[in-house]
Amino acid sequence: MFSSYSLSFSFTIISVLLTFLALPFCSSSKNTYDYGGYLYPQFYEHSCPKAPEIVNSIVAKAVAKEARMAASLLRLHFHDCFVKGCDASILLDSSGSIVSEKRSNPNRNSARGFEVIDEIKSAIEKECPHTVSCADILALAARDSTVLAGGPSWDVPLGRRDSRGGSLSGSNNNIPAPNNTFQTILTKFKLKGLNVVDMVALSGSHTIGNARCTSFRQRLYNQTGNGQPDYSLHQGFAASLRTRCPKSGGDQNLFSLDAITPQKFDNLYFKNILAYKGLLSSDQILLTKSEASMELVKQYAENNGLFFEQFAKSMVKMGNITPLTGSRGEIRTNCRSVN
Ligand code: HEM
Ligand SMILES: *[C@@H]1O[C@H](CO)[C@@H](O)[C@H](O)[C@H]1NC(C)=O
Ligand SMILES: *[C@@H]1O[C@H](CO)[C@@H](O)[C@H](O)[C@H]1NC(C)=O
Repeated sequence: MFSSYSLSFSFTIISVLLTFLALPFCSSSKNTYDYGGYLYPQFYEHSCPKAPEIVNSIVAKAVAKEARMAASLLRLHFHDCFVKGCDASILLDSSGSIVSEKRSNPNRNSARGFEVIDEIKSAIEKECPHTVSCADILALAARDSTVLAGGPSWDVPLGRRDSRGGSLSGSNNNIPAPNNTFQTILTKFKLKGLNVVDMVALSGSHTIGNARCTSFRQRLYNQTGNGQPDYSLHQGFAASLRTRCPKSGGDQNLFSLDAITPQKFDNLYFKNILAYKGLLSSDQILLTKSEASMELVKQYAENNGLFFEQFAKSMVKMGNITPLTGSRGEIRTNCRSVN
């Protein structure tokens, strides 16, 4: 039978076992919050089964009208998720105590696609009032945009709710700037639970869409403050960029982030980087400032399938950044304002 020794020994075993069993739960009670364990693709299966196809049809129409819209919608989801989580905070206009994130440095004169989101939201409100969040619409639109541009597809976990406020300072500080150092950008990703693999794969979004002259001018004329262009920028490419991005003026002139296949979602972005033809400093430093990211750039340049697979995984991970779930937040009626 049990002696008191073996009894206390059993207790020790049991408590050790319990500790180990509890560990994943402890970390998940932190991580369900961080990584959105509550989201699942069938969230609207009964409450609004048509929601995903409504999003898809309006995104398809918008992208058919203007190819760049795919890029703009993909970027909106990113700029949403990096500020207070994927909660549609980026969509709020200024009013009352709310200062819109649309005014931040990364978004001002740059973030676009808001009218497309409005059109989707009003179509979905007609079909199922007060049911589908603006944050989920952004996540679905980002996936559909990627697919329409020729990129990979993935199941979008759903069930996010919308914030009752925004954060201008969060938008200014948490979203990486194109002239941030490699370390700063990686830190900004890590603060959101993303790693260097996610950072390199998601930067592959720059295979589509545009950047303004003001986002990379520094590289063309005075990268480090010594009056010289960025040494890691291909000289002929730099010369051609200077023709439409002068030392002063032309701030809003647009350039393709991927000059070779500007509207196609493919791995040419990584091949450009290997040729020192990344447009933004933040693109080129993926090759020049870290061994780990250099290896990833080479792998994705070599193997489009590998890039697609990782991109899809990292998009799901990004989409799971601190969502509002359950009874937190709200389902906005109009994505531009709180209820
Ligand atoms: C790694 C850090 C990143 C930096 C520093 C960065 C920076 C930028 C900048 C400066 C632009 C051009 C803005 C302009 O001049 O108007 C841009 C465009 C874009 N970014 Fe990023 N980005 C980053 C990561 C991402 C991620 C993670 C995504 C999506 C998952 C993304 C998607 C896009 C897209 C699609 C565009 C083109 C938008 C359009 O044409 O409307 N970027 N990015
Ligand atoms: C980055 O660009 C911003 C905006 O153009 C500028 O104010 C800042 O000085 C630049 N930072 C560095 C480190 O060059
Ligand atoms: C380059 O930038 C530095 C520091 O920002 C500045 O002092 C210098 O005048 C600039 N040089 C040129 C040629 O613009």
